[in-house]
Amino acid sequence: MKQFLTVGNWKMNTSLSEALTLAQAIKTDLESTIMPDVQIVICPPFPWIVSVSEIFMETNIKIGAQNISSQTIGPYTGEVAASMLSDICEYVIIGHSERRQSMRENNETIGRKVVTAINAGINPILCVSERQSNDTEGVIKKQISSALVNIENPSQLIIAYEPVWAIGTGLPASPSEVAEIIDNTIRPELRRIYGNLPAANTPILYGGSINHSNAMEFLKEDSIQGTLLGNASLNPKQFSRIARLTAEAKIST
Ligand code: PGA
Repeated sequence: MKQFLTVGNWKMNTSLSEALTLAQAIKTDLESTIMPDVQIVICPPFPWIVSVSEIFMETNIKIGAQNISSQTIGPYTGEVAASMLSDICEYVIIGHSERRQSMRENNETIGRKVVTAINAGINPILCVSERQSNDTEGVIKKQISSALVNIENPSQLIIAYEPVWAIGTGLPASPSEVAEIIDNTIRPELRRIYGNLPAANTPILYGGSINHSNAMEFLKEDSIQGTLLGNASLNPKQFSRIARLTAEAKIST
């Protein structure tokens, strides 16, 4: 059974009081909506994770981290280990293109992070992304195969396809382009590694300039199981709307 997700990545935004106000607004907006088939995940900045998780305590909204260390414990100043998050976070974003670019994270480091997340019982949301290049397929396949090289069972895995040029630019990819990349590149690569069923069951999200007006066009594509939202997740009304649209698009299918 496929899972559908709406994931909000707050990135390095919000003060503590803004984070609490935003979380409370999302909770109020979604509290009365029952969406058993759509998992909502909020990924606040590290310092606000505990306070935000308290707001969502009695709800179905889960908490995710935006990153974890590739190491498990020890003298790694400033790093946060998966085991430190596992009581609070059920999800973690790994390999976001902003980290691949500005923190120079490579496929090998990202692969280690996926292992530490899974060992700590946290579901990795592995981001795969490409710049406008002539070898989209090759770049994405390599990102997938190297991130999963030490993962035998992908049952916890979620993949988010996010073209670099679409992130934060207001210029999303076209829904049919995204569906094509998922159908012809991402899922076949998962199938090659794990076989038909695990590949079919892995949720694949799209991220990059999604808002409440364009979300439905993406959600209507069978190949896409949800969205990873940056800017739209900072606006509680937009975020809740997109979560509801996900339920509407996917539950009727
Ligand atoms: P955006 O960011 O929605 O602001 O384009 C998406 C992301 O970085 O995941």
